[in-house]
Amino acid sequence: MENNKKRGGDAPIACDLEAGKKYSWCTCGHSENQPFCDGGHRAAESTPNLRFEAEETKTYYICTCKLTKNPPFCDGSHQ
Ligand code: FES
Repeated sequence: MENNKKRGGDAPIACDLEAGKKYSWCTCGHSENQPFCDGGHRAAESTPNLRFEAEETKTYYICTCKLTKNPPFCDGSHQ
């Protein structure tokens, strides 16, 4: 992948998110806290995190492979 990105996993992670709360999605795959950013992109000189806000309180399936076309959500591109 470009920009020193890598897959952070091969399947989405089910995350219980809260409406109105902000989260930080790892875009580069280097975080040890998938699917969220742990700052690992800095040492890896890769892409920065993506901040997003949950619209509803529910379980979301968050992408770890970094190939989704609908970040931060899994769109099935990992297969
Ligand atoms: S985990 Fe990335 S698209 Fe499914």
